[in-house]
Amino acid sequence: MKGAKSQFVCQQCGAVFAKWVGQCTNCSSWNSLVEQVLSDGGGAGAKSALAKGKASGKKLDFVKISTIVPSDAKARLLTEFEDLNVVLGGGILMGSVCLLAGQPGIGKSTILMQICSEVAKKHNVLYVSGEESAGQVKLRALRLGAESERLSFAASTSANDIAKTIESGEFDLVIVDSIQTLAMDEISSAPGTVSQVTNCGNLIIRAAKATDTAVIIVGHVTKEGTLAGPKVLEHLVDVVLNFEGDRYGGFKTVRAVKNRFGSTNEVAIFEMADKGLKEVQNPSAALLAERTNTDGSVILATLNGNRPILVEIQALCNKSNYGYPKRTASGFDLNRLNLLIAVLERRTKLKLADKDIFVNVVGGMKLNDSAADLAVAMAIASAVAGRKLGEEYVVFGEVGLGGEIRSAFRADQRIAEAKKLGFKHAIGPATIRDKFVIPMKDLRTTLIKYVR
Ligand code: TYD
Ligand code: MG
Repeated sequence: MKGAKSQFVCQQCGAVFAKWVGQCTNCSSWNSLVEQVLSDGGGAGAKSALAKGKASGKKLDFVKISTIVPSDAKARLLTEFEDLNVVLGGGILMGSVCLLAGQPGIGKSTILMQICSEVAKKHNVLYVSGEESAGQVKLRALRLGAESERLSFAASTSANDIAKTIESGEFDLVIVDSIQTLAMDEISSAPGTVSQVTNCGNLIIRAAKATDTAVIIVGHVTKEGTLAGPKVLEHLVDVVLNFEGDRYGGFKTVRAVKNRFGSTNEVAIFEMADKGLKEVQNPSAALLAERTNTDGSVILATLNGNRPILVEIQALCNKSNYGYPKRTASGFDLNRLNLLIAVLERRTKLKLADKDIFVNVVGGMKLNDSAADLAVAMAIASAVAGRKLGEEYVVFGEVGLGGEIRSAFRADQRIAEAKKLGFKHAIGPATIRDKFVIPMKDLRTTLIKYVR
């Protein structure tokens, strides 16, 4: 029978199968395959072109690269947040499509309404929501003081309608909140599935490019931090911004994980206030303001993107009541914590097998810095010994499996930040030649000297 052909696509990872299976062999998720009927043009037509082995397209119109006008010469829309502009590579580029990804409730709609409010002072802006009604969005706008005449709102979940509206060219910036609620008429699968998200995304991106409209698309992420449903969208857009942090209080960071028009090393740090998000100018001072020096508390000089930041690492050790000790980390990788505990046990003869260990990075920060090792190890040792580290020290350095302390990148920036906040010394790797740093070669001597 030569009827309509179909294939099965995993809605988690996008792998394609000829037959249905219960578990995707590519990403191991269960019940994630959805049948897709291939249209005749895609199936049979493509095959015949392949069989002939002959190109059926036409010759490209190419131009000398010296004559192309760089897109950077195009206008950039500036937001009210200076750091966010830097993260974006100097503002939102006209015609660019940006994906803002974050957990539900972190403040995506809030920050976008604030961006709209600022951009709408000079440009036409449209906010499309598939999640909230006009009344709900208005409430938020009132709270944030977004009252411009040039800011419009529409409630829609139809990708076709949104693309058509973008194509009208009436708007300079369009917000789509969120991609997971959108659906296309031509596709039968539910909103949020791979085929819906990819095709809706494509439709919107094409409309944006055709009319040079800047578009920001909201994408929800799961608890594990991956884009809910499809990761495919990340390949299609120009900029991917990750909105991370604690949903309840604490700092939130926006960083670019992909940016076709700028660096991916910059971060913007925010705090949620009663009138929306505010940029935090001096995060180190804010993070250390409430500190009381106890045992188990160590100040780490870390980097968040390109920005040096001082954060407090806290560790708590209790005698375990069960055979299997509990280890918990908030803001720090649990595998890394287990590794450090193993190194501590083996290389410093600290007894940890019968102790529950809890590690917390204060302020909701998520550490992604190998040089955090030494501070975490010292915090644990300090908690076990019940001895606190002096007020005047910051700590940084990577710890190897042999218990050796390894170098940290951008040490000069870490040192400068520590000096700025009035610290007297840094305990760090021996490779650094700076009077401020007390050079340490291995974990054991460091612990004996400072916390035991
Ligand atoms: P929201 O932006 O709707 O999150 P998302 O779109 O990412 O799902 O809201 C995030 C939270 O912020 C919400 O719980 C309410 C709170 N909030 C404030 O604290 N202050 C404010 O001014 C606003 C607008 C929201
Ligand atoms: Mg929202």
